[in-house]
Amino acid sequence: MEKRTEEKTYLDKIRESADYIKNHVKETPEVAIILGTGLGDLIKYIEDSEAIDYKNIPNFPVSTVEGHSGRLIFGKLGGKRVMAMQGRFHYYEGYDMKEVTFPVRVMQQMKIEKLFVSNAAGGMNKEFRVGDIMIITDHINLFPENPLRGKNYEDLGPRFPAMTEAYSQSLINLADKVSQEKGIRVMHGVYVGTAGPTFETPAEYEYFRIIGGDAVGMSTVPEVIVANHAGMKVFGVSVITDLGGKDIKEVPTHEEVQKAALKAQPNMVVLISEMLKQL
Ligand code: HPA
Repeated sequence: MEKRTEEKTYLDKIRESADYIKNHVKETPEVAIILGTGLGDLIKYIEDSEAIDYKNIPNFPVSTVEGHSGRLIFGKLGGKRVMAMQGRFHYYEGYDMKEVTFPVRVMQQMKIEKLFVSNAAGGMNKEFRVGDIMIITDHINLFPENPLRGKNYEDLGPRFPAMTEAYSQSLINLADKVSQEKGIRVMHGVYVGTAGPTFETPAEYEYFRIIGGDAVGMSTVPEVIVANHAGMKVFGVSVITDLGGKDIKEVPTHEEVQKAALKAQPNMVVLISEMLKQL
């Protein structure tokens, strides 16, 4: 009896939020974009835009962290109907995994089939430079918890979803083509997702590099797991905002991360809007 009520509540909450959004925008989006730290400028390029504050959407968590404002922006980018999340929910803020990934469930309910995610990340790959754009080819989940832990809702996806192509190869290929056409230097790499909020010790950066990571950050992985569970195609991109490792003495700060992300922003805007145009 208890369980049935619980089940109804989670699915109902998702539907309620999706219905609210659908009733408050002119057109339903085909692509969702989650904007990472310092990458909020993309929204300036969204045409015919409309906004909904997270605080007005029933059941939506409210964003708290500095540098994130908490709105959904709707409109056209690269000729496609998009919904951009300005501000995401980080695990380190204290949200639980169901809250962190709630917006992705709402996207699923809205029948959005493609998700673009961006983030700021620290680079461990010795070829990387601050300001580089890294196309995420795969990830390593080092969060203490998987967002799919607990009861599985068959309506939302399978109990044991494959993660073999967590980041769509066709979208990676498109990103490569676009970056070549536009003369944007892009790297490829594996994103390591950690809980944060601490940056890594030198030994931790080294450890993440040894296990196959190229960059590390405090987001993205939970949303990408849920998007895959939901059958969505995902494209992920990181801006390398600092470098970490045994021999690196620079101390990363949130301000430095934001500054470096801002510098990469024009190229990110070109990459993402041109990809959308060519989808
Ligand atoms: N570590 C973790 N998260 C980050 C970093 C980092 O070095 N840079 C930006 N986000």
